[in-house]
Amino acid sequence: MNFPLVFIDETRDLFAQAIERARAKVTDPELLVDKVFQDAEFSFTWYWQLMGGTNFRGFTRVFDIATGAGYLMWMLREAKGCDVFGNDVKSEYGVIWRELGIADRVSIHQIEPFKPAICRGTYDYVVATAIMFNRIDGNKANLWGVEEWKFFFFNACAHLTYNGEIYLCFNNKADELPTGELLDFLERVGQSEGKGRFRVTRRSFLQLHFHAH
Ligand SMILES: C[S@@+](CC[C@H](N)C(=O)[O-])C[C@H]1O[C@@H](n2cnc3c(N)ncnc32)[C@H](O)[C@@H]1O
Repeated sequence: MNFPLVFIDETRDLFAQAIERARAKVTDPELLVDKVFQDAEFSFTWYWQLMGGTNFRGFTRVFDIATGAGYLMWMLREAKGCDVFGNDVKSEYGVIWRELGIADRVSIHQIEPFKPAICRGTYDYVVATAIMFNRIDGNKANLWGVEEWKFFFFNACAHLTYNGEIYLCFNNKADELPTGELLDFLERVGQSEGKGRFRVTRRSFLQLHFHAH
């Protein structure tokens, strides 16, 4: 593993170089490359802020659920020295994962309601940003409710270290942010940072769940 990058400009330059190498290789029109690459600059700034507000540190094992192009995995490894893993349903991102050097850390796996999102390993952090895997049959008008999320947390907790933490960042669109019963549940189980962002520790989820029954 390389020594972690600490300067934002240095990290940004290396990231841009990797993205350009990937862009040159992408031939699959299905990949919506322009959209993916347009998102890169936005994602970079946002992820940098996100990492600054956490206690991610060298050799922390992180699982990034539905990593997409893998930007967050790349940054956590390069800038923070984390040992990163992730998954996504879209194998077409492979060309980008290869250029970012994370292809061997990503599994192609479709998350479904009441089926494990994480299948092996133990992690200090489970991260999910701009979440879309909670769309039932890909339909954003039909999102997971409390029971689906409970199953998700049970599975994620089984793959967390004792002090492990889950960081959920919902797709920041008004019609996909949690409301009602789900919002109440997430606020009880975790610490809310507003705008659909929640930190849930293994202990807080298990305590709440077992006390509730
Ligand atoms: C909005 S993107 C976010 C990607 C990345 N987490 C980020 O913040 O840039 C949502 C990702 O979820 C993936 N996805 C959607 N439904 C999924 C599912 N059921 N299982 C696994 N991945 C899924 C998509 O392929 C896409 O890469």
